[in-house]
Amino acid sequence: MGAHSDLLERHHAVTPRWLGLLYEEPIELVSGAGRTVVDAEGREYLDFFAGILTTMTAYGLPEVVGAIQSQAERMLHTSTLYLIEPMVELAEQIASLSGIPNAKVFFTTSGTEANEAAMLLATTSRRSSQVLALRNSYHGRSFATMGVTGNRGWSASSLSPLQVSYVHGGYRFRSPFRDLDDDAYIAACVADLRDVIESTTSGDVACMIAEPIQGVGGFAIPPDGLFGAMQEVLDEYGILFVSDEVQTGWGRTGEHFWGYQAHGITPDAITFAKGLGNGLPIAGVVASAELMDCLQASSISTFGGNPLVSAGALANLRYLLDHDLQGNALRVGRHLLDRLQGAAEKLDCVGEVRGKGLMIGIELVAEDGMAPNPAAAAVVLERCRERGLLIGKGGLYGNCLRIAPPLSVTIAEADRAADALLESLGDVNREVRPAR
Ligand SMILES: Cc1ncc(COP(=O)(O)O)c(C=O)c1O
Repeated sequence: MGAHSDLLERHHAVTPRWLGLLYEEPIELVSGAGRTVVDAEGREYLDFFAGILTTMTAYGLPEVVGAIQSQAERMLHTSTLYLIEPMVELAEQIASLSGIPNAKVFFTTSGTEANEAAMLLATTSRRSSQVLALRNSYHGRSFATMGVTGNRGWSASSLSPLQVSYVHGGYRFRSPFRDLDDDAYIAACVADLRDVIESTTSGDVACMIAEPIQGVGGFAIPPDGLFGAMQEVLDEYGILFVSDEVQTGWGRTGEHFWGYQAHGITPDAITFAKGLGNGLPIAGVVASAELMDCLQASSISTFGGNPLVSAGALANLRYLLDHDLQGNALRVGRHLLDRLQGAAEKLDCVGEVRGKGLMIGIELVAEDGMAPNPAAAAVVLERCRERGLLIGKGGLYGNCLRIAPPLSVTIAEADRAADALLESLGDVNREVRPAR
């Protein structure tokens, strides 16, 4: 038996059935440098999913590895009962980057916990357990965050501490408003928001939570300005806006540092995770001092912002800013999107190629140009892997390809990835019959 099949058998014996693996023959990635990773059987791949958008700068970056090593030699962990200099410095940087006036930062170990904390702040400050969320959203795997996740495939339970109403907006390709132009689409979503507030809530809603670009939902991108128009309605009711930047933060969208900035708003809270630690478990929430300090009881996160993860995250963030990786995301992302849009949209199995910066989604459809085709997505993933390229998938129906390399990716690497992707899409266009 090969290294992978042996490990797969052990994996199935001791881990939950619902912990999904990619590929018919799942792989283990054991080392990486730059944008390249190597599996346990010695095969090399260009990684264009980056541990779910989490290896933000690069694999094996000496600046980050060095910071982790030197912190590990001195002190791994102390808890937030003691002062932690790297955590304070990181909080200072994130507060000033956030765009939220007088901001404070609370660190957690996952995006789920970050959103959980944001829900706690909003519901406590507004004394209301009502929350608005978007259809096709994903915000985490705890009870509150599953409660605001508008995707049945990721909602294992209906139990929720929140009363949640879902609004339209994030996923235009399958929206009833899809044929409207941008302005009319925004107006229809705003009218729906008002209607949902008036008809399904008692008005005193705590907050609306939204991903500026829906990640798990298939890199679904609403028109710029949508959330600005929605926020005008939210303001009428005093409803707070929480921007879930777990996938869109740190310049990944190229045009902006945060996804919310495409909408002309300042959120009341921002949640972040994934990319900040380049793989170290660090996440958190930023909010104004007034909102952050509204809790009357004490709270703690034993691991949140500990010396090791904060030192690594600081080095990672410094590298990102010093090397203008946002600018690189814009430049390389545009190049890749142009190549993919030009070629892939001619294929019958492709319903749409969409993207901003280094977040590019490809919606695969059946022969009618609309029915979701998850079988095609699964085959493209396999074919890309055979050609030495790792990508992800997602979407409400599992029919969207997700392309999101580390932000340091080069034009040459983007071209290699585009070649592999287009060849794989070409195979599938010929072979795969409609899924339904
Ligand atoms: C937008 C968004 N929010 C929250 C989460 C939850 O983050 P975590 O898996 O770190 O708990 C995710 C994870 O994919 C996400 O994409």
